[in-house]
Amino acid sequence: MRSAVEREVGRGIEYHAAIGSTQDRARELADEGATRGIVVADAQSAGRGTHGRSWLAPKGTSLLASWIVRPAPGAPALFVAFAGVAVARALEGLVRANALLKWPNDVLLDGRKVAGTLANATSAGDGGVLVLGIGVNVHQRDFPAEIRDRATSLALAGHTVDRLALLARLTTELDHVERPEERERALEEWRRRSMQMGKAVEVRVSGRAPLRGVAIAIDDDGALVLETDHGTERVVAGEVVLA
Ligand code: BTN
Repeated sequence: MRSAVEREVGRGIEYHAAIGSTQDRARELADEGATRGIVVADAQSAGRGTHGRSWLAPKGTSLLASWIVRPAPGAPALFVAFAGVAVARALEGLVRANALLKWPNDVLLDGRKVAGTLANATSAGDGGVLVLGIGVNVHQRDFPAEIRDRATSLALAGHTVDRLALLARLTTELDHVERPEERERALEEWRRRSMQMGKAVEVRVSGRAPLRGVAIAIDDDGALVLETDHGTERVVAGEVVLA
């Protein structure tokens, strides 16, 4: 029988007290043919972030979840950005928090990262499947010294949030931004919440000279568009900092 949250979000939720990575488990389920579904964990021993980094979260502190999205949205990188919009909307709806977004996948509160989104997409004849992972720092009261000046949690920002309520609200918002007819509105909200739009930025990609320009748009495929001294440049990867 489905739980109340499963009924609310209209799909199955596989819960793990501890797992390697919800992302890997959701990919397994997707490869076995699951069409929708969410994998949630209270703790991950091998949580993954972008650029091969680890995603660390002490047990019980965070929302750690992966959503199976089938068919995969046409532009996974744009969907990752829209997932940030969904997180921001969920936080605004639940606790009136005003989150900003940092391309490609960071959600910020008070200038510090409170959540990150991650996509793993495959394409196939059936339209492919995307596994979207989101980690939200909810109850942390402190962070390891290496990230203390860059990370925050909802608790540190003064918000008390129930993780199940956040899961349900976030799923509703993700369903929303996934709809083609909502695309323009999501794009507009991404621009409005972006802490980089209209600002001078520097893009750092290892092994290459930094690229400087003004962030002017996010493209249809999720690339960040910069106006540089040498014309318009599209950025598909790299670390973007304010210049
Ligand atoms: C980032 O680097 O900002 C993306 C972080 C994504 C972390 C989430 S936590 C749930 C899911 N499972 C993982 O292993 N990673 C994602």
